[in-house]
Amino acid sequence: MSINALPIAIEIKDLKKHFKEIKAVDGISLKIKKGELFSILGPNGAGKTTLVRMLTTVLTPTVGDANINGYSILTGKKDIVKKIGVCPQEITIYDVLRAEENVEFVAAMHGIPRREAKEKAIKLLEEFGIAGRKDWSKNFSGGMKRRLNLAMSLIFEPEILFLDEPTAGLDPQARRLVWDFIRDLKSRDITIILMTHDMVEADSLSDRVAIIDNGKIIAMGTPTELKEKYGSDNVLEVSFIEKNDLEVVKSNIKNLPFVANSSEIHRKDRDTLLISFQGGLKNLVKLLQQGLIENIDEVENMKFRQNSLEDVFLNLTGRRLRD
Ligand SMILES: Nc1ncnc2c1ncn2[C@@H]1O[C@H](COP(=O)(O)OP(=O)(O)OP(=O)(O)O)[C@@H](O)[C@H]1O
Ligand SMILES: [Mg+2]
Repeated sequence: MSINALPIAIEIKDLKKHFKEIKAVDGISLKIKKGELFSILGPNGAGKTTLVRMLTTVLTPTVGDANINGYSILTGKKDIVKKIGVCPQEITIYDVLRAEENVEFVAAMHGIPRREAKEKAIKLLEEFGIAGRKDWSKNFSGGMKRRLNLAMSLIFEPEILFLDEPTAGLDPQARRLVWDFIRDLKSRDITIILMTHDMVEADSLSDRVAIIDNGKIIAMGTPTELKEKYGSDNVLEVSFIEKNDLEVVKSNIKNLPFVANSSEIHRKDRDTLLISFQGGLKNLVKLLQQGLIENIDEVENMKFRQNSLEDVFLNLTGRRLRD
């Protein structure tokens, strides 16, 4: 089924939260479909956590409303909290409980029978690589606490899951583990709202992304749409010793629909063709297959620069996501 045909899980209607003169969230409206992985990408202070706290009914909006599974955040708090899992940015675990006990505690709050909770807790902790720890969780490292917190948010299999910077402070290996886990959740049809400042994370996991800055959405779409609309093209630089070889490749790529343009740099010892194209890695492979493979022995050097969501943010705001 195409994502457009899916029912709406979350509808946000002109939501605002002002703290005196600070407009933390300043008029956000959007619809998130059931089973969609939707990321809110923005720099420090953009309003991501404030938005999550309103959607999870922890914070009352200044203006506006949102429906979660059809219930208003203003009036349906009780029905909403039964359906949602939340992994907050600030780690929230019980220091004097062990890892398993922390997860079982959340399970008990959701009425999961004890034995089932125990089995599930062990399985989840194994998946997150912390099942071996039997001591108090206050002794855990930051990354282990984060993974425990994720396990706690997942124990009761929520229909909608809010993840606020789930990989902040994790090492690259743990970050990948969490990404794989999120992908797996996605395949189980859970609606996921991911708050992040990590463009690689947003790009590789999301169906759609809303880029926010100063409490407002400044762009929204699939990662590919955003990069095509606001990013710079991907560039493949190919250098040859013989100018003639460059001409052959140039004519090979002339009619490829995803190639935006090409330009040349001529130096004494080599000639370089710069090919700008759209569509990321998939089209890089096509470009190599259709334009270059026959002349690959003549290629002296090759460089590839990929367009990213960082370019999109930079082009929209003139700033980097994280300075
Ligand atoms: N309780 C509060 N009182 C006053 N100001 C607040 C409060 N909570 C948030 N803010 C302000 O609202 C703005 C948005 O903060 P928020 O925590 O939502 O940003 P964020 O996008 O989650 O940032 P980060 O990436 O650093 O987590 C900031 O300027 C912050 O200082
Ligand atoms: Mg935050």
